[in-house]
Amino acid sequence: MHTPAQPQTTAAWQGLALSAAQPLPTLRELLQDSARTQALRAQACGLTLDFSRQRLTPLVLQQLLDLARQQALPAQRDALFAGEPINRTEDRAVLHMALRAPAGDGPGHAHPWPAAITEQVLAERERMLALAERIRQGHWLGPRRQPITDLVAIGIGGSDLGPRMAVHALQNEPRPAVRVHFVSNPDASALHDVLATLDPMRTGFVVASKTFTTQETLLNAASARRWLADAGITAWARQFIAITTAPDKAAALGFAPEHTLRFWDWVGGRYSLWSSIGLPLAVAVGRERFEAFLAGAHAMDTHFRTAPLAQNLPVLMALLGVWQRNFLNTPTQLVTSYTARLGLLPAYLQQMDMESNGKRVHPDGQRVRVATGPIVWGGLGIDGQHAYYQLLHQGTHAVAIDFMGVRQQAPCLPDTEAHLRFNQANLLAQAQALALGRDAQATAHSLRAAGLSEAEVQRLTPHRSFDGNVSSNVLWLDALTPFTLGALVALYEHKVFCQAALWQVHAFDQWGVELGKVVAQGLQQHLAEGTCPPDADTASAA
Ligand code: F6P
Repeated sequence: MHTPAQPQTTAAWQGLALSAAQPLPTLRELLQDSARTQALRAQACGLTLDFSRQRLTPLVLQQLLDLARQQALPAQRDALFAGEPINRTEDRAVLHMALRAPAGDGPGHAHPWPAAITEQVLAERERMLALAERIRQGHWLGPRRQPITDLVAIGIGGSDLGPRMAVHALQNEPRPAVRVHFVSNPDASALHDVLATLDPMRTGFVVASKTFTTQETLLNAASARRWLADAGITAWARQFIAITTAPDKAAALGFAPEHTLRFWDWVGGRYSLWSSIGLPLAVAVGRERFEAFLAGAHAMDTHFRTAPLAQNLPVLMALLGVWQRNFLNTPTQLVTSYTARLGLLPAYLQQMDMESNGKRVHPDGQRVRVATGPIVWGGLGIDGQHAYYQLLHQGTHAVAIDFMGVRQQAPCLPDTEAHLRFNQANLLAQAQALALGRDAQATAHSLRAAGLSEAEVQRLTPHRSFDGNVSSNVLWLDALTPFTLGALVALYEHKVFCQAALWQVHAFDQWGVELGKVVAQGLQQHLAEGTCPPDADTASAA
């Protein structure tokens, strides 16, 4: 493969800069062309991306696809899937795709990564799913031989956000046999508030940590252990499961080998949901639905590997993001969901994207000269409409938006359909209102029609007009199922990978989180000894 360059040196990038410097058509103008609107859609794995509300001309789209080719994106993708050590600062392969692959894709269709990887993945997946089923069926017993009814998952970052998000999205049994709880924050109240409702005789714990050195997680695990001890339980390890790439560290802390699930250093923490880290999800939804979740992600992997660039969902989303971030100067990315069960997705994507692409050096150590990963934020759409959408419509920030909604929803209330239509109408209304806006003339006209005096019309028109021209993607899920959720998460993973490949930054390390940890360790000692009050001059204390 030819070596990808600093992006701003490519002909495609320079062409895009020229395109962005010309007056672009407005979205109001672009959206008059219904053939264009129909054309700017792509579909795969139960997901449809409508990108007609992007300020894209045919030339810009062509230049973006040229950029993908000039940065050797297909070759970089193939290196990822082949298991090359593309995480170069840690000298590791990046193979979370292997975690969701089936045994084989049929005769003559071997996976692109080494076969030994698939073998170990399948064996550990089976161990994890068997354990999850045992827990679901009430065969994990507490000290009084009663089934464990509550599972508390302790972990943080990638060892928490994914399972938490997916359980919230997919757990829909009203009274599950085993309730799953999550604790990530080391504030004592976080663990306390969960434990306060539980019975130590019927509670099991999962301690999830890739490294098994994360202090927040070990602190919470120690307090959970103390909670059992205070209830007279000494054989605490029977009520604990460890999930880690470092089983030796778990063993050194007393965790039982038969209760230790593992994964591998070629799985990034924020990409680990598909591994044993998914145990809480498997407990919440069961083997079949967990496997469907993996199948959806695998289907997206196959789409990413095989679909032409112009119809390839992750590639398109990455390119549209680059157009917004680098050429339309949009520093933030809102993810706004019109289906409540995806309410935790923005927080999950925040880590996935910002920890991956919050980088400012190229692989050769040179400083990047273009903007890289955006600030990712978001929540539920309808709630956002009553909170921060004002800024989207009339504020001074440029915000890139991914709207997310479902076409169909399984009934859960007598009027589920009415709720669904309400959400869909609001999603479409917001996308349209942001794109088209309402100019002063139209605003004045509507105020006059409402009977306002001419003086009032003049006074209020600037306040009640909308510039519009706010770009967005709309991502429709056919329905929220384990399969489509898997595909959706994999879509964003690959989008993030593509952007890193285009910008030429390392997506799979996270050295930026280290310095604060080191400083905190030093200060912790001072705080414990009382030599440094919390409001002290920390620079001199450290
Ligand atoms: O501090 C950041 C981080 O290293 C994340 O990358 C990771 O997901 C999280 O901490 C938790 O790490 P671990 O799974 O090793 O406890």
